[in-house]
Amino acid sequence: MFKRLREAEAAVMQASISISLNGRDVPCRPGDSVAAACFAAGDDACRDTVVTGVPRGPYCMMGVCYDCLVTIDGRANQQACMTLVRAGMNVARQHGAREVLE
Ligand code: FES
Repeated sequence: MFKRLREAEAAVMQASISISLNGRDVPCRPGDSVAAACFAAGDDACRDTVVTGVPRGPYCMMGVCYDCLVTIDGRANQQACMTLVRAGMNVARQHGAREVLE
């Protein structure tokens, strides 16, 4: 559905960072948001809704809709569109509500 422009794809291929996205290595360009990296990797759903489990993906790309919540390095409810990729980052799809610590 989404893909990088040819020039951007070439830059990504030369990039030296990658993240783990649902267990697979995904090459990224420094400065990419996690949401952009997900889209470029062909993964357009970040989370499943709490009530019905319907898949949701980034929509506004500017921190408003909260449809891009993912688990990053074990921390749930992170906005993928507002978080820049870091080498070695572990990003996982969020299923339902996050656990609440007591
Ligand atoms: S895509 Fe809307 S808050 Fe991240």
